Amino acid sequence: MRAIILVGGFGTRLRPLTNDKPKQILTVGNRPMLENVIEKLTNHGITEVILSMGFQPSAFVDAYPDETCVGLPIKYVIEPEPLDTAGAIRFAALQSDVDETFLVCNGDVITDIDVSELTAFHRNVAAEATISLTPTDNPSRYGIVPIDNNGQVKGFIEKPLGPDFETNLVNAGYYLMEPSTLDRIASDRPVSVETEIFPKMAEDKTLYAVPSETYWIDAGTPETFLQANLDLLNGVRDKKINGVHDQASVSPNALVETSIIGRGVKIADGVHIKNSVLMEGAEVEKDVRIEGSIVGERAKIGESSQVLELTIVDHEEIVEKRTQLRSVRISETSD
Ligand code: GDD
Ligand code: MG
Repeated sequence: MRAIILVGGFGTRLRPLTNDKPKQILTVGNRPMLENVIEKLTNHGITEVILSMGFQPSAFVDAYPDETCVGLPIKYVIEPEPLDTAGAIRFAALQSDVDETFLVCNGDVITDIDVSELTAFHRNVAAEATISLTPTDNPSRYGIVPIDNNGQVKGFIEKPLGPDFETNLVNAGYYLMEPSTLDRIASDRPVSVETEIFPKMAEDKTLYAVPSETYWIDAGTPETFLQANLDLLNGVRDKKINGVHDQASVSPNALVETSIIGRGVKIADGVHIKNSVLMEGAEVEKDVRIEGSIVGERAKIGESSQVLELTIVDHEEIVEKRTQLRSVRISETSD
């Protein structure tokens, strides 16, 4: 079975880190987010990944020039313009001659979901499409999906305003689809799978869904991007990693607590880093404190600065000595 992974969005919620690169290329656990997604597909009979690209496609092609990622072959498909989620699925499927059941994944969703289980359910109920669902405390950020006792989808409401919701089960961004789904998608305009195609399929009673309690996160916002990184350290995933890259240089007089420290990062004396992500090549001068924040590639944090409370420092950015940053996004284009 083939998997279409949607990676064509602009990643606006992660700016400035995504000004020049797609969010799926940003690192989670010191490797591109995309690898965290694809690694979970390898044991579930996926034979090829079709990357549905739009914004900055060259970032992917440059990262995987031999057209494989975590051992799976990749086919690159570039949209001529943003086609929205359903338009992107249709375009990628047609470009790849998809003619049997296929998987679709949102490229910013990191999960330990069992795709084989989802596939078994899909075949068992003979659905036209089957959505994986996850429980959430915050339904208004996602697509809410009420189902009946057989898993048949009763409706699909994308990002409802609330405050009351029929269910806390939301679209996890993983779908199995039959090729007939593609015939529902107009070819001459952008089409959203969430606001147009799924609601119509729910009406036609051909759409099913399966709730899952397994690890799931949409890493597309600053909070969740940071969390997705830290979750590789705190034991909530089915594996744990060493957060400090072998090729990082951390002073013995620095303290690094539950943080991801990338390749080539330099950390000087007296630095305290906690619950943070420092991407490849970042440099931290002495006596700096960084907590709950994200520091982009090759950024430099000057002596005695404080970077706190979900601050994002852009790639290549230089923070002057003794700067205090709280909950801000620092980049050349930030003002
Ligand atoms: N190729 C292509 N073209 N990809 C796109 C486009 C497009 O025009 N628009 C968005 N994408 C990709 C994004 O790069 C991302 O990987 C995925 O589609 C989903 O887009 P997001 O922008 O991250 O959507 P969201 O997080 O607000 O909501 C979606 O995901 C939630 C689960 O994480 C919806 O599917 C919700 O219903 C769902 O609950
Ligand atoms: Mg998302």
